[in-house]
Amino acid sequence: MKQMISLQVNGDTYELAVNPWRTLNEVLREDIKLTGTKLGCGTGDCGACTVLIDGKSVSSCLTLAVEVQGLAITTIEGMAPNAEELHPIQESFIEKGAIQCGYCTPGMIMSTTFLLKNNPNPTEAEIRAGLSGNLCRCTGYNKIVDAIGDAAKKLKKDV
Ligand code: FES
Ligand code: FES
Repeated sequence: MKQMISLQVNGDTYELAVNPWRTLNEVLREDIKLTGTKLGCGTGDCGACTVLIDGKSVSSCLTLAVEVQGLAITTIEGMAPNAEELHPIQESFIEKGAIQCGYCTPGMIMSTTFLLKNNPNPTEAEIRAGLSGNLCRCTGYNKIVDAIGDAAKKLKKDV
């Protein structure tokens, strides 16, 4: 039986009737139509579905929508400050050529947000460890690591 839930996504409130077994990934993509969050493995292994919940990176494919009522959910659509500007992490991914097919990119950017919030000055090893839950089939990771180092510098200047 469907259950009424209220989700806070990117600062907006969504009142939804959902079956209790539906994942946050399904509800974001299919009900709210925020398709920036991807679905890869569906088993917690690839990171394509990563979102922030109360600032922490979480696999939306392993999270039930009914579990996250009242918590602040941020998706890739909530990263840019406005329609004209990108978030510095998004800019760095573009500038450093860290995007090829782009399928992993939203999840990478959400994990990077969590990483840089908790460690604003990461070493290369710490960046690689921070991305260990995010798989990319295209880039070989070096450009992604460069992009994150570049984003860390930009964010420090912004402070
Ligand atoms: S789709 Fe969630 S971790 Fe792969
Ligand atoms: S850019 Fe294609 S999977 Fe990462």
